[in-house]
Amino acid sequence: MKAVQINNYGGYDVLEVKENVTQPRVGEGQVLVEVRGVSINPFDWKVRRGFYKENMPLQFPVTVGGDFAGVVAEVGKGVSDFNRGDEVYGSSNVFNGGSGSFAEFTTSNARNTALKPKNVNFVEAAALPLVGSSAVQALEEHIKLQKGQKILIHGGAGGIGHMAVQIAKAHGAFVATTVSADDKEFVKRLGTDQAIDYKSEKFEELLKDFDAVFDTVGGETTQRSFQVLRKGGTLVSMLGQPDKKLSEQYGATGIGQGTQTNAQHLSRLAELVDSGKVKVHIDKIFTLDEVREAFKHQEEGHPRGKVVLKIK
Ligand SMILES: NC(=O)c1ccc[n+]([C@@H]2O[C@H](COP(=O)([O-])OP(=O)(O)OC[C@H]3O[C@@H](n4cnc5c(N)ncnc54)[C@H](OP(=O)(O)O)[C@@H]3O)[C@@H](O)[C@H]2O)c1
Repeated sequence: MKAVQINNYGGYDVLEVKENVTQPRVGEGQVLVEVRGVSINPFDWKVRRGFYKENMPLQFPVTVGGDFAGVVAEVGKGVSDFNRGDEVYGSSNVFNGGSGSFAEFTTSNARNTALKPKNVNFVEAAALPLVGSSAVQALEEHIKLQKGQKILIHGGAGGIGHMAVQIAKAHGAFVATTVSADDKEFVKRLGTDQAIDYKSEKFEELLKDFDAVFDTVGGETTQRSFQVLRKGGTLVSMLGQPDKKLSEQYGATGIGQGTQTNAQHLSRLAELVDSGKVKVHIDKIFTLDEVREAFKHQEEGHPRGKVVLKIK
């Protein structure tokens, strides 16, 4: 089968499109999926560049990617939730026991797979798993966002951010978000109440008494975010554990989230998408052969929403 593999850590040039990769064999608790679409997450290029090589070393060659949407071709032992022919989506990253998604076929653990939303095509479904699960987990499980509450979402035009803005609005919250100036109109169309240009404005001078902050940026943005929270507010960061001393000083709860792209989050996400409350924005669609250009676009092109590859 055709697959995108790497044989080394590095830049775009380590991404190779191979024609004769052995099709993965479905294991216990897994499904084999004929892949229709995949999407790129920052995690994929961080892995490729070797950011995690100390703690999570790869065994090369490795098929890259995690997010996928496709059709179940085979069901492994012990799997009762899926049948051949089911239209599914999920994460088949090698780190969670999958075979890597950027290929014509992928094996995914049933626990990281769910039926895809019905009212989107495969390319749109492939854009959803990691970013959508991240937003669902943060807003509904950690923050437990309620109607009328105020939330600041950093990076509102990005993959996670644009999902989070819509989910927060679906919960009836007041949403402020930080973006580049060019993206202000985009996030307003998603429902944002207050869009702040992170390059020319200081969010901590414009906002106060917020119930929650959802941070998809990290670094000093996380640190400064405590200033906008009310006492008892919650800060969830996608980029590590927020400073414990600052959490205490501001009387806030700081949570560093590790996203679980599991069946529960994926099913909840499918419900939100099918109800029309959340719509994924695709910035650009590439083919598998264009994988280097696709990664370059994700890493350097400041995409709005998601970058996807159509496989079939
Ligand atoms: N912990 C976990 O389990 C987990 C899971 C998924 C993702 N993540 C991490 O979460 C981060 C976001 O992921 P993503 O998929 O949403 O990435 P993305 O699609 O690249 O979006 C990032 C967004 O942040 C914006 N941004 C950059 N600097 C900013 C700043 N100082 N203030 C406000 N916005 C800023 C970017 O806007 P411009 O392009 O206009 O600069 C972009 O729209 C990544 O670092 C990813 O690795 C962690």
